[in-house]
Amino acid sequence: MNLKDLYIDFFVSKGHKQIPSAPVVPENDPSVLFNTAGMQPLIPYLMGQPHPYGTRLVDYQKCIRTNDLDSIGDKTHHTFFEMLGNWSLGDYFKEESIKYSFEFLTKVLNIPINKLAVTVFKGEDGIPKDTESASIWQSLGINKIAYLGKEDNFWIAGESGPCGPDTEIFYFRSNDEVQDIFDPNDDRWVEIWNNVFMQYYKDNNGITELPKKNVDTGMGYERVTAILEGVNDNYLSSVWIDIIKKIESLSKYSYEENPESIRIIADHIRTAVFILGDEAGIKPSNTDQGYILRRLIRRAIRHAKKLEIESNDWEIVIANMIIDKYKKYYSELEKNKDIILDELTKEKNKFNRTLEKGLREFEKIITNVDKVLNKDLAFKLYDTYGFPIELTEELAKEKNIEVDIEGFKEKFKAHQELSRTASSGKFKGGLAGDSDKEIKYHTATHLLNAALKQVVDKNVHQKGSNITAERMRFDFSCDHKLSEEEKQKVEELVNIWINDKIDVTVKEMSKEDAIKSGAECMFIEKYPDIVTVYSIGDISKELCGGPHVKNTGELGKFKITKEEASSAGVRRIKAILE
Ligand code: SER
Repeated sequence: MNLKDLYIDFFVSKGHKQIPSAPVVPENDPSVLFNTAGMQPLIPYLMGQPHPYGTRLVDYQKCIRTNDLDSIGDKTHHTFFEMLGNWSLGDYFKEESIKYSFEFLTKVLNIPINKLAVTVFKGEDGIPKDTESASIWQSLGINKIAYLGKEDNFWIAGESGPCGPDTEIFYFRSNDEVQDIFDPNDDRWVEIWNNVFMQYYKDNNGITELPKKNVDTGMGYERVTAILEGVNDNYLSSVWIDIIKKIESLSKYSYEENPESIRIIADHIRTAVFILGDEAGIKPSNTDQGYILRRLIRRAIRHAKKLEIESNDWEIVIANMIIDKYKKYYSELEKNKDIILDELTKEKNKFNRTLEKGLREFEKIITNVDKVLNKDLAFKLYDTYGFPIELTEELAKEKNIEVDIEGFKEKFKAHQELSRTASSGKFKGGLAGDSDKEIKYHTATHLLNAALKQVVDKNVHQKGSNITAERMRFDFSCDHKLSEEEKQKVEELVNIWINDKIDVTVKEMSKEDAIKSGAECMFIEKYPDIVTVYSIGDISKELCGGPHVKNTGELGKFKITKEEASSAGVRRIKAILE
C-alpha cells in the first residue's frame, strides 16, 4: 500500500479527520508565493480559531519550495513535494504525538527500533529544555537522543507565526552497523519526521504563549518512500522511476550518463503540472508565481535540448504520466488536464522560437567574455531571447563565467520603470525582492566583508553574493578553510558592530573619487560614472546600489551557518540573522 494511504488510515484510526490538500498558492497569505509546509494553510487554526473538522487532523499537502533551485539535479532535492502531516489543535500534546509516531514507524512501517534516533530541544533563550519529550522517547525504548538548540530543534515558518520546540526523528540509512551513540551530523542518519510542539507565537514583540498547545508534524513523502524502498537516490524510488525511465527512453543519454538533466526535467515538469493544475489558475508570466512557473518550464526545455530529446511532444508525454500517477490523490489534475497540457506546449513553442537563436548568441557572446558576463548582454538574452536571468547564469556557470546579476537587476528595474508595465514583485522568491529582511542581509554582507578582512586577511575580496529572505550567501577569495576560531571571531566582530548601532550613510560621487577614497568594489567596469558609496561608520565603505538599513542596530543577531569551498580559491559562507 502507498505510504500516503497507510499514513492517513493510521491517523484516522486514532480519531483524526482527513482534510484535503490546500492549493499550492496560499489563500490568505501574500507573504509567500507557495505553501512550503503542511501547516501553512492551518495557521489560523493553530492560532486558536476552531477548525470545522475538529481538533485532530491529518492530510497530505502539496508543497513547493523554489529557493534552492540550484540544488535540483542531485539525488534528494525536489521543487514540489508532498508533506504528510497530522495535527492536534489544543487536543493531545507531546505524549500521544510521540507515541503515535513511534507506533506508525515501528508497527505500520515495521522499522526496527535500533535504526531510529531522535533530536530534542536542549533549551535556549528562556525556553526550557524539553525533558518531557526525551523521557517519553526513553519510555518507548529509544535511547539514541541528541539535544540540540534553536537552530535545529525549534520550528517556525519564516519570521513570525505559531512556533515551538520540536523533536525530529532520524532513520539510519545504511547497511553499516548502527553505533550506540547517535551523531546527528553523521549523514547516514536522515531526518524522516518532525513533530513540532506549537505552543508559542512569535512576532516583532517577542514570544508569547498561544491560547492552546498544538501539535504539528510533517513527514516528507518522497524521502520516506525512498528509504522504505531501500534506494539512496529519491529518483530511483517508485515515486519517480517510471518517469525517469520514460525521459531516458526519449533522450540520447542514459540516466547514468546525465542524471542531473533527467532529474531536472522530471522535477520541473512535475512541479509545472501541479502549478498549472492548481485551482489558483497560475499561467506562465513575468511576475510572481507565473515567473517561477516560466523558469521551471524553460529550464526543463533547455535540459531536454541538452539530452537531445527529439520527440515533438515530450512535455505532453511526461505530463500525461504525471497526471495519471497523481490523479487518484489530486483530482484537480484530471479536471484541469487540458489547461496543463495546453499551457506547457504553448510555453514550449514560445521559448523554442528563440532558444536556438539565443543559445547561438550566447555561444558567440561568451567567446569574448573573460570572467564576467556584463549586464547589457545578460539583458539582451532576457529581452530578445526570453532567457530568464537564472538560465543565463546556469549557462555561464558551465563555462566558469559569472554574470553581473546586480547590474542586470539595475538595468531591469530601469527598463521596468520606463515601460511602466511590469510589477514590482517580479523576482520575488527568486532574485531581488528587497523585502525588509533582504535589505538587512544586504547590509550584513558589507559587515561580513569587513570582518573577514580584519580577521582572515586584508586581501579578502568579495566574489559574489546571493540573498533570500531566509539567508545570505557570500563568496570571497581565500586560500584556506576557515578555522573554528576564525569563524567565531568573524561572527563576534559582526555582532559587535551590530550592537554598536552604527549609522549607515550613503554618498553620491564620481567613480574616480570613489576608488580614490578607498571604497571597495567587486567589478569596477560595471559601475556607471556617478556611483553611490555606502559607508558603515569607518568600518566599511563600498560602491553599491543599495538599499541598506539606516543603522546596524536593526540587523538582529548574525550567525554563520556554513563555511565551505565554492570553487578554487573561493570560499562560501552562509549566514542568517536571527
Ligand atoms: N512544520 C514542520 C515542518 O515543516 C512540521 O510539519 O517541518
